[in-house]
Amino acid sequence: MKGIVFNEFIEFVESAQGIIAVDAMISAANPASGGAYTAAGYYDFQELVSMVVALSARCGTPVPDLVRGFGEYLFGKLVATRSELLRAMPDVYTFLESIEGQIHVEVRRIYPDADLPKLETERRSDGSLLLRYRSRRHLADLAEGMIAGCIAHYGGEYTVSRQDFLDEEQVQVAEFTICHG
Ligand code: HEM
Repeated sequence: MKGIVFNEFIEFVESAQGIIAVDAMISAANPASGGAYTAAGYYDFQELVSMVVALSARCGTPVPDLVRGFGEYLFGKLVATRSELLRAMPDVYTFLESIEGQIHVEVRRIYPDADLPKLETERRSDGSLLLRYRSRRHLADLAEGMIAGCIAHYGGEYTVSRQDFLDEEQVQVAEFTICHG
């Protein structure tokens, strides 16, 4: 996983819980990299997992809630310097539809070693959007938080429901149904 995600995660913990919580989390997780990351570097994804687990043990918030909260924060940070992305996509559905074929493609161009999920979308006849997440990293909670961040960014009334399963290779699949109104 790219260092940019680790750095954003550490900033997220600092903004929500303070620097003491960051220090305690890093000493408890004891990551091989020492807890210092450069944005373009590539680090073991397990370091992130052990930091989230250590944070959860300390603050009592369940891991999925922490990961969702981080996803919401991360969405804001990723688009903060990329306002043209939001301008180019007029609404939540078009934004979500553009991740797989456009946004993550661009991420891959900048970081060829990026670990990205597969995100398929499909418009349903009832007016909802189906987004299917699939990844070996099992970060559907992160995706859920990012979808919430995206909705918060555009505003408006949406409901999001989620169904989880594992595919035949034991890879996590989560189907999100996003419904406007
Ligand atoms: C709602 C919108 C988005 C969703 C649901 C989403 C979903 C995800 C998820 C779940 C991951 C973690 C990797 C995995 O699960 O396999 C990820 C990675 C990433 N995404 Fe997205 N993403 C969204 C928008 C964006 C945007 C707007 C950007 C940048 C402009 C972006 C850049 C990245 C980067 C840099 C990574 C990390 C790759 C790595 O560490 O190797 N994403 N995305």
